[in-house]
Amino acid sequence: MSGTYRAMHARSLADPEGFWSEAAAGIDWVRRWDRVLDATNPPFYRWFVGGQLNTCHNCLDRHVDGGRADQAALIYDSPVTGTVRRFTYRELRDAVARFAGALRKNGVGKGDRVILYMPMVPEAVIAMLACARIGAVHSVVFGGFAANELATRLDDATPKLVVSASCGIEPGRIVPYKPLLDAAIEWARHKPERCIILQRPEQRCSLREPRDVDWEAAVAAAEPAACVPVAATDPLYILYTSGTTGQPKGIVRDNGGHAVVLKWSMANVYGVAPGETFWAASDVGWVVGHSYIVYAPLLHGCTAILYEGKPVGTPDAGAFWRVIAQHGVSTLFTAPTAFRAIKRDDPDGALIAGHDLTRFRTLFLAGERSDPATLEWAEAKLKVPVIDHWWQTESGWPMAANCIGIERLKVKHGSPTKAVPGWDVRVLDAQGVEAKPGDIGAIVCRLPLPPGSLPTLWNADKRFVDAYLTAYPGYYQTGDAGYLDEDGYLYVMSRTDDIINVAGHRLSTGAMEEVLAAHPDVAECAVIGAADEIKGQVPLGLLVLKSGAASPPETIVREVVALVRERIGPVAAFKTATVVKRLPKTRSGKILRGTIQKIADGKEYKAPATIDDPAILDEIAEALRDLGYPKVLR
Ligand code: COA
Ligand code: AMP
Repeated sequence: MSGTYRAMHARSLADPEGFWSEAAAGIDWVRRWDRVLDATNPPFYRWFVGGQLNTCHNCLDRHVDGGRADQAALIYDSPVTGTVRRFTYRELRDAVARFAGALRKNGVGKGDRVILYMPMVPEAVIAMLACARIGAVHSVVFGGFAANELATRLDDATPKLVVSASCGIEPGRIVPYKPLLDAAIEWARHKPERCIILQRPEQRCSLREPRDVDWEAAVAAAEPAACVPVAATDPLYILYTSGTTGQPKGIVRDNGGHAVVLKWSMANVYGVAPGETFWAASDVGWVVGHSYIVYAPLLHGCTAILYEGKPVGTPDAGAFWRVIAQHGVSTLFTAPTAFRAIKRDDPDGALIAGHDLTRFRTLFLAGERSDPATLEWAEAKLKVPVIDHWWQTESGWPMAANCIGIERLKVKHGSPTKAVPGWDVRVLDAQGVEAKPGDIGAIVCRLPLPPGSLPTLWNADKRFVDAYLTAYPGYYQTGDAGYLDEDGYLYVMSRTDDIINVAGHRLSTGAMEEVLAAHPDVAECAVIGAADEIKGQVPLGLLVLKSGAASPPETIVREVVALVRERIGPVAAFKTATVVKRLPKTRSGKILRGTIQKIADGKEYKAPATIDDPAILDEIAEALRDLGYPKVLR
């Protein structure tokens, strides 16, 4: 109905307590809250204070008891192992209860942290829900991160136990996880007491007893554990995301607000009904995986898909259509990069033919800017609405979207549409004044943020305030820049910090620079995100060598590429670097990364007035030309 969105959004901001207490009726509570929103300690806000619930109960037991026991809760579809496995709600509940018992038997209790370093196997989902069941706090670390990143998270989260697997499987290669885990534990100051290891048949690993326990043995020895009531404000999980340094930020998610908004978002943002099949083609190591592979579909009584494969190459660019048809997917959520890869391999969409996509209704894209060409291709080939929506690890759920469950608004390519109810999204100029429509500024959200968004950073309240709430008092700084148009449509254009988006994965160029700078022959360096046809952006390194560097430049380049892979992980996709004589800087010594990026991307640039020596820009352009930049993007 026309105007429904506008009215709902306005109400969510005018009466947030009324709005969210109504949404909270969608969740089973052990104890009703005393206060919907506790705003007594700004800028810290808490939702559903005094309330008690269990997230795992709401994801599983509730549906088993409510008539969905035999409905599929989770379908594991793994082209890389040639496996499809279905878990009904009852089967998943039983497996989770058992594993929760195993966690408990191995010393994990309420409030303890558990790190999960897992490939895309059902046991990853089981372990997440098992933590939720006993009130433990999980922290999933994406499998593409290196041991060093895992060690950083071990030290920050100080887990009692780690759950991992013998290996992950990437197309064409097996990735042994256990050596990475062993190395991380060796390097970390904090040592977990136990590791529960899933032995995958594709490659088993040796266990270090008594620290390491075999998954099967741990489960066999355990009794099922019941759901434990936790406070709505207790943490459900910590998810680390790139900050502006090598030290990642531990985003905290609470139990109550998270359950309420995720359930609400399924109907209102995604327009999905309980019983339907929802597929987020992401990884459980990212926020999209937490929210829309695991929690939201299960909270809503849907069937969730866990896909261990890629959009292309497993076996071909028709893989997504096969999964949609085989499992009757109604809604797919993925990153634009997946569609760019599919379009590259199958430009005419020939592989769509022969797959029954009649139940497929909507495609949602997020994680990076959706370029109009990719959107148009997807619309033309799939003949379903393609909806760009915008959010981040910190928000945990969409901040801007075309909320098709409320009212389908006009689509404007290049825009993720408008603020989702609960989010008061504004654009501010450098003085903190609201920008005029069309003028680019910092995208911020007025406090308080809605339920489900980060209440703080793990053990780092001050960093939370400094990083997000200080630049624009009264507002949360998203780190994105963009504008609102005359109709209130949001356009997200770039980051205001050093974060780049590589194949929808969020990475810090600052963290990569820290690694490059650690090479003994590197005097100075800069890493920028250069435009890439498939991945959106890829990192590109520029190195200035120390005089008398021991090795030739090609060797140093090879070494720094290997170093980033070793310290951060293959997911960084850091493959290109070059040696330059000097880096362009302002007179105060700030490296002009933005200008280097423009040169790499073939955009117009002018030497900033503050530049130390404009001639350096020509040198950089020449060095990048030798590397094939700017690349011609279609
Ligand atoms: N464990 C170990 N290694 C991993 C990994 C994991 N879980 N995930 C990725 N990697 C490795 C890859 O094997 C690759 O290694 P390589 O340099 O040896 O080739 C590297 O990390 C980069 O991986 P990826 O970003 O997946 O790039 P790709 O070239 O293998 O595939 C796409 C490109 C576009 C097909 C792929 O990025 C993709 O499917 N993207 C979908 C986007 C997505 O899921 N985004 C999540 C947020 S919604
Ligand atoms: P992550 O925390 O990994 O989910 O990354 C969040 C960041 O990805 C955001 O802050 C944006 O920079 C970017 N992003 C996510 N969705 C979109 C979108 N729809 N359009 C543009 N950028 C996006």
